[in-house]
Amino acid sequence: MPSVDKHYSQSLQLDEILKRLNEAYPDGPNVYQLAPIDQLHIGGIKASEKLAKRLSEFKASKVLDIGSGLGGLLRVCSQQHQAIYVSLDITHELSCINQQLNKLSKTNCPSMVVTGNGQQLPFPDQSFDLIIMQHSLLNMPDKRAVLNECKRILSPDGHLILHEVLTGKNSDEMLFPVPWASTSDLSHLISSAEIRALISSVSMKIQSMQDWSAEALSWRARQTSKQQTLHAPVVTPGMILGSDFALMGKNVQSNLENRAIEIVEVVIS
Ligand SMILES: C[S@@+](CC[C@H](N)C(=O)[O-])C[C@H]1O[C@@H](n2cnc3c(N)ncnc32)[C@H](O)[C@@H]1O
Repeated sequence: MPSVDKHYSQSLQLDEILKRLNEAYPDGPNVYQLAPIDQLHIGGIKASEKLAKRLSEFKASKVLDIGSGLGGLLRVCSQQHQAIYVSLDITHELSCINQQLNKLSKTNCPSMVVTGNGQQLPFPDQSFDLIIMQHSLLNMPDKRAVLNECKRILSPDGHLILHEVLTGKNSDEMLFPVPWASTSDLSHLISSAEIRALISSVSMKIQSMQDWSAEALSWRARQTSKQQTLHAPVVTPGMILGSDFALMGKNVQSNLENRAIEIVEVVIS
């Protein structure tokens, strides 16, 4: 069985990515120019901009992104809201690119990048007032450990926000590969009933749960038609996820259409 970090690092073209970005954007790329590689979730940069609004609503001052990938979410957040930002990811190679992209894009908020495991967080109790997980719980088998760890490191009035993929009502129709897993071994999706039960079992509370599936499907359909009609952008998702990326995108679209998956935003306190 492939490990999660191998899944995300085996096709990475780090040197080529940096070369192309430096050539095309001598003054540093902006968040939209980075989006094809650093927004590795369904919904793209628009979804990250919606999440960034939450940070301002909650007046967050110390923010942790667990499973940050290349760090696109926090670069978007740092443009909208001043805070201390920490990215954590289990795939060291992605944390390294994240750091390089922070330097290139000259982000103006204090930001730190850590390689670590969301199921065993390397932070003291009550060290953040906001935690976000964007399409990363889906790779973690021990979700109870993740939630307990989030509860431990959140301040008493802090919030956890999930932007995640759940199983839909036709989960037996799920097609692979998808961007987070080549086969079912690495995909750890649960249903909305299961996530509700889990959250309550660790004595946390759901403040709101919104279904973002319809928006996600329109976004995915737009990506498919862009891939067919436009010139390739300077950097492409295939430079992170490899030559299967087109098939992964197609499968995400079918999985959403067939209700094998659904996309939610959950705000938890
Ligand atoms: C689908 S990617 C999403 C990346 C990023 N959140 C985004 O939306 O662009 C899932 C990320 O979760 C990370 N991940 C998976 N399991 C993890 C774990 N146990 N602890 C920390 N990160 C993990 C992977 O390395 C990968 O970067």
